[in-house]
Amino acid sequence: MAEENGGNGSSAPPGGAGGNGSSGRKTGVREQVTVLKETVQAKTKEQLEELKQPEKTQLYRSIFRVKHDAEPRNRALSVLSNVFFHLHPAKVNRDAVRYNFTWGMGGITFYLFIVLTFTGVLLMFYYHPSKVQAFRDILYLENDVPFGKLLRNMHRWAAHLMIIAVWLHMFRVFLTGSYKRPREFNWCVGVLLMVLTLLLSFTGYLLPDDQLGFWAVTVGTNMARATPLLGNEGPFGSLLGMTPYNDVRFALLGGSIVDANALLRAYIWHCIAIPLIAGIFMGVHFWRVRKDGGISGPAPIMLESEIKEEKGPRPVILKPSGMDQFQK
Ligand code: HEM
Repeated sequence: MAEENGGNGSSAPPGGAGGNGSSGRKTGVREQVTVLKETVQAKTKEQLEELKQPEKTQLYRSIFRVKHDAEPRNRALSVLSNVFFHLHPAKVNRDAVRYNFTWGMGGITFYLFIVLTFTGVLLMFYYHPSKVQAFRDILYLENDVPFGKLLRNMHRWAAHLMIIAVWLHMFRVFLTGSYKRPREFNWCVGVLLMVLTLLLSFTGYLLPDDQLGFWAVTVGTNMARATPLLGNEGPFGSLLGMTPYNDVRFALLGGSIVDANALLRAYIWHCIAIPLIAGIFMGVHFWRVRKDGGISGPAPIMLESEIKEEKGPRPVILKPSGMDQFQK
């Protein structure tokens, strides 16, 4: 563009000096272009170099405020200054988080709960809790909805696995004696979580409204008749004025038979109330794990005096973490 303008002489000064002025400008422009090119090249090279070391870029530093290296202080800071990591303790007992101690079952139970929530919400898009629609929706999901069968089976299998995982988790906690002081309260929260998990499974059973679910819920809720005080056939029930039309079974079913009201109630308990309550208590459970000094960890296998005599790094943990404050 600059050359064209110079070439047609329109901006050349009068008196024949136009040729010199125009070539002078051309040289100037060329120099500017060269400088610009070099600057761009240098900048590009600089940016390519930065890509090789992203931790040196301003963008990286604006996200990660501390050095990521093996320094204990920086390692702790990088956990504390991250919105997701700061939920975890800055330091954990290495032996306590070993899979051969925890079996990872608490974590797996929680992971399955997340899978169930996600697939459950997707299933809700296709399911109506009504006697006319419920079973048809299941057939529709199984046969017509793209990936519907996969979705339904992911939900079912995750539910079965969650029950297995939660039992194994409880078993591990029992075997390692982790229910003992100071973790008694968390054991009780765990028991509640176990009951909620079983209730989630039970209420979900009725939702397909097939024969299996119908009879399972019929049998299950019939047992509620025999509840002490609250069931019409239970001990002292009649003394409290319990009848088939006002006892706990009636409250569960929303009537005296397993029918449309029972389906709606099971749906609401299954999709809203129980997951919400379980979610809140999971929060309490995790918080307590941390407040009780982290996961309990393996039992001490050496005396403190023996460790002090040792030279070099400590090979084992002295006490189950979190016990120190309570043992004084
Ligand atoms: C929805 C159910 C549950 C979830 C998601 C859950 C999750 C967890 C997680 C992630 C931990 C950390 C250690 C580990 O993974 O083993 C933990 C620890 C613990 N859980 Fe559970 N849990 C559940 C049910 C239970 C049950 C049924 C019990 C017992 C009745 C229980 C008692 C405990 C105790 C006492 C600890 C501390 C263990 C220790 O410090 O070694 N939890 N739980």
